[in-house]
Amino acid sequence: MARIFDKTWQRTKLCGQFTEEDAGHEVRANGWVRARRDLGGIIFIEIWDWTGPIQIVFNPEAGEIHEQAARLRNEYCVAVKGRMRIRPEGTDNPELKTGTIEIVASDFLVMSKAKPLPFEVGDETDNVDENLRLKYRYLDMRRDKMQFNLRTRAKINAFTREYLGERNFVELETPMLTKATPEGARDYLVPSRVNQGCFYALPQSPQLFKQILMISGFDRYYQIARCFRDEDLRADRQPEFTQVDIEMSYIVEDDIMELIEGYMKGLFKLVRGVDIPTPFVRMPYWEAMDRFGSDKPDLRVKLELCDLAEAFRDAGFEPFRKILEAGGVVRGLRLPGGAALSRKEIMDLENRAIKLGTSGLANFLYKDGGLKGPLIKFLKPEDIEKVKELGKMQPDDALFIVANESRQKACEILGTLRLELGKAREDLFDNSPDNWKFLWVTDFPLFEWSVEEKRWEAMHHPFTSPALNSEKPFDEDPANALARAYDCVLNGNEVGGGSIRIHDPEVQARLFKCLGITPEDAKRRFGFFLDALSYGTPPHGGLALGVDRLVMLLCGGNSIRDVMAFPKTQKAQCLMSGAPDAVEQERLDELAISVVKDEE
Ligand code: AMO
Repeated sequence: MARIFDKTWQRTKLCGQFTEEDAGHEVRANGWVRARRDLGGIIFIEIWDWTGPIQIVFNPEAGEIHEQAARLRNEYCVAVKGRMRIRPEGTDNPELKTGTIEIVASDFLVMSKAKPLPFEVGDETDNVDENLRLKYRYLDMRRDKMQFNLRTRAKINAFTREYLGERNFVELETPMLTKATPEGARDYLVPSRVNQGCFYALPQSPQLFKQILMISGFDRYYQIARCFRDEDLRADRQPEFTQVDIEMSYIVEDDIMELIEGYMKGLFKLVRGVDIPTPFVRMPYWEAMDRFGSDKPDLRVKLELCDLAEAFRDAGFEPFRKILEAGGVVRGLRLPGGAALSRKEIMDLENRAIKLGTSGLANFLYKDGGLKGPLIKFLKPEDIEKVKELGKMQPDDALFIVANESRQKACEILGTLRLELGKAREDLFDNSPDNWKFLWVTDFPLFEWSVEEKRWEAMHHPFTSPALNSEKPFDEDPANALARAYDCVLNGNEVGGGSIRIHDPEVQARLFKCLGITPEDAKRRFGFFLDALSYGTPPHGGLALGVDRLVMLLCGGNSIRDVMAFPKTQKAQCLMSGAPDAVEQERLDELAISVVKDEE
């Protein structure tokens, strides 16, 4: 009779959960074969499940099962029966939880074989080409690191539900097949069969639906929501990703911030066992740009930018003076000890800055008791003193300078150099695993100018409330208007973003007007939402946390793909299933779609 897996083969414990207390008992284990060793006729195998490995011993006297064991290959799925024992002296493996025990096999069942493996499954798999890992994702996930990451993710989701549930948040689902919401990316479209020529958009976020839920009286909503954005991918972006999406009525900024600070405190205690200090630092957008050259500053890096305008406004170096006269800026980045950089290193840095979009990178080196550098000859001694003072320069320092018409651009370029130079040096970058630097970035500009479209665009999204304390109404001075938006930043990553929303239809209409959206266009695109807004909308606001980024940071990784079960590649493909894929002509006909192939 063929031997099959039944109750009598079922594991008595998970592999990694066996202990010395099981010694002397009959036990059963189920798992995958790892590491077979043949020592003078005695065969040792490890079998693995997510709790770790357990060693199995096959003695030559075991007859048939010993022969079977000799034919085993890695990743065969097996069941074993036997007696647990303490390993003979000197054969312990202190690196394993179960390193002092082993099962002496008395019976054995190969439940299924594995084909020759595309790569060795184990911790070394990290070094395998990522595309191969993604194609055979099931094997990639059959190892400790991926198990840990995805189980941590599940733990975080469970914590989210507990934390928000306890605080009277209602978990509600919003549709996947929906109308476009503007979050600034392209939509993924789904053709409708019954309404030919019409398309659903997959949600970029539940933004409008969650606001409507506030109008419907659900005053505290959350959802662990899947979002879809057709945008250029990077290590921290995926076309499909998950948000903890939150919205509340009758609140102001402080309420959301306190809620999230409490959430992070609980989460970091649970997952990392650390107490993170709250409240988080709050920093207006322009302060973050001016000091750190980023709207998501990594406060672990101990370098700051400085403003050198006063040193160059009346100085003899004409290019900088002209930029300042035209309303531009001259900003600097001090690098302690940077005077020791070689000419080549300084040139490389300048080329890097040019690549980032500026015409050059000036420098001063504090050497031999004074400042040196190509601009010295254009400056009077008092200007040089000002450079030293504004740049807070100490002997042996270097100061790198960008002059640009755009304050934003100058800051961003120096901000990138700040990260690159700082992270390369231990004395400037504390990279210890539990150095968590949270902050809120607030007071974002309401709009940003789109050079391509030649019009204002919403910096967050067009439902964000303008700041209340501006000198002029937002539509009279869009360039300086601020928003009631906030981002939650952790170690240089934007882990969440949100805002207080517009709840007055008249303000919403004015905002659309600023964005160049005509009333007809607004009606066509968001008519349902504008209608809803005009039926007694409570003041409300919210935020969404990027679950993938948060899990990545909590797991100590640097790619969100490593914390998603089935992520996509940079080209938005699933290498395992082969999506996206062509479909049969019949399906296209049903949808009244014809595909025009680009000849190129
Ligand atoms: P936002 O667009 O800032 O806001 O998104 C919120 C958070 O989601 C994460 N995130 C991503 N994670 C992975 N891949 C992506 N492609 C991706 N895009 C965004 C980030 C980000 O901080 N509706 C608003 C929220 C609100 O106003 O309440 C929204 O979606 O961590």
